[in-house]
Amino acid sequence: MRKNICSVLCGGAILLGVAACAKAPAEAEQAGGAAAVSQETKEEASNGKKILVAYYSYSGNTKAVAGQIAAALGADLFEINTVETYPSAYGDLVDQAQREIKAGFKPQLSSRVENMAQYDVVFIGSPNWWGTVAPAVSSFLSQYNWEGKQVAGFFTHGGGGMQNCGRDLQRQLPGAKVLSPVAFAGRSSGAPQKELQAWLTQLGLK
Ligand SMILES: Cc1cc2nc3c(=O)[nH]c(=O)nc-3n(C[C@H](O)[C@H](O)[C@H](O)COP(=O)(O)O)c2cc1C
Repeated sequence: MRKNICSVLCGGAILLGVAACAKAPAEAEQAGGAAAVSQETKEEASNGKKILVAYYSYSGNTKAVAGQIAAALGADLFEINTVETYPSAYGDLVDQAQREIKAGFKPQLSSRVENMAQYDVVFIGSPNWWGTVAPAVSSFLSQYNWEGKQVAGFFTHGGGGMQNCGRDLQRQLPGAKVLSPVAFAGRSSGAPQKELQAWLTQLGLK
């Protein structure tokens, strides 16, 4: 508990710096509700493995990195969306996120990955919220059997770096082979290509 409070407080300091950078949720992300796996299922994935890139993104930074990873590996993409939309006013969003994280609340999601069993490797992306993964990502993690899958977390942040994101993701992946996570400074243009490629190479997927 003390650690949680500490991460929230640390996150709070960061938030002062990132508040100005926040944007309202992209219209496209909310439109249509359910975000399905890309229609065109890629037969060939890196090293013969079938790969999914699943992500939650409030203001587009994590989405940009997810797109880069999917393009680099020929992976399927899945956007995690909540049924209830988060507030567009930044202060309200920050307060709600803090309350949800403290309570361990898992918001209802609007869609599922229909055939998770087909994937050997799953990338999971989240913004760093209060030093940890966004509640929507925790909801996503609780819905599937991770036994035997390789899972790699990627995060975007507003200056705090990884904080507890990697650790907290791993704790919610029983039975998975968790690969080394990465955190990038949040930018709408995504991650620096060199750093991203280096990480994928390190994972043995590129
Ligand atoms: C509710 C909330 C909490 C955040 N907490 C942190 C934090 O603790 N540490 C940090 O570095 N950035 C924090 N940020 C900044 C985001 O991690 C950063 O802007 C991220 O790139 C946003 O990703 P997205 O555009 O995919 O939503 C927070 C942002 C929000 C909205």
